[in-house]
Amino acid sequence: MALALDVDDLVEANRLAQQLRPWFGVAKVGLELFTAAGPDAIGAMIDAGYEVFLDIKLHDIPTTVGKSANVAGALGASYLTMHAHGGATMLRAGVDGFLEGARNAGLPEPTALAITVLTSDEEAPAHIVPNRLRVAVEAGCGGIVCAAADLKDIREMAPRTMRVVPGIRAAGAERHDQPKAVTPTEALQAGANLLVVGRAVTLADDPAAAAAALFAGVE
Ligand code: C5P
Repeated sequence: MALALDVDDLVEANRLAQQLRPWFGVAKVGLELFTAAGPDAIGAMIDAGYEVFLDIKLHDIPTTVGKSANVAGALGASYLTMHAHGGATMLRAGVDGFLEGARNAGLPEPTALAITVLTSDEEAPAHIVPNRLRVAVEAGCGGIVCAAADLKDIREMAPRTMRVVPGIRAAGAERHDQPKAVTPTEALQAGANLLVVGRAVTLADDPAAAAAALFAGVE
């Protein structure tokens, strides 16, 4: 399980990370926290016992993406997101940079993740997800971030690709801005390998109790 630390303050992120460590092995550091705290956020989560998922959705010229991904690898991120929209050359540069950065720092091989389409992009035509998936897999990305609804197609097209799914909620719970929310069990049964959970626990009065309830009965 990946905990989405969508906060702008490292003190708050650390508090959530400590409280929720029994439920999560991966801490997702997104643009908000990374803009606020930078590499310190990565180091703090590693020190707290998490693998770090650096969700900064790189999308730039291949040289810039490659060099940035190299830094992310050297800092110890285990996962890094890039926009598949950036194309094969950019993704390949990002994958190579990420792996090289980790290797040079003596760290285990990390996994580059491709974003196919943002859930907020309501105008994206249906054929875009399979097209971008193909580009991402050919460029060497080890995983893909996708909606639970796309899991079946992605499993068929790229069975060895890791499938990361956000938009997780308890049945009947507040969806916030997640149009395609599913329960943990639904996502896992549909073939998700890593679930990303944010506000369902981070906004709760008692985050640990919310996590316990959300994951009750999940294998
Ligand atoms: O909705 P929740 O707080 O669980 O969001 C967790 C993660 O899901 C966010 O950090 C973001 O990466 C992703 N997300 C998404 N689509 C949305 C809202 C969030 O994919 N509409």
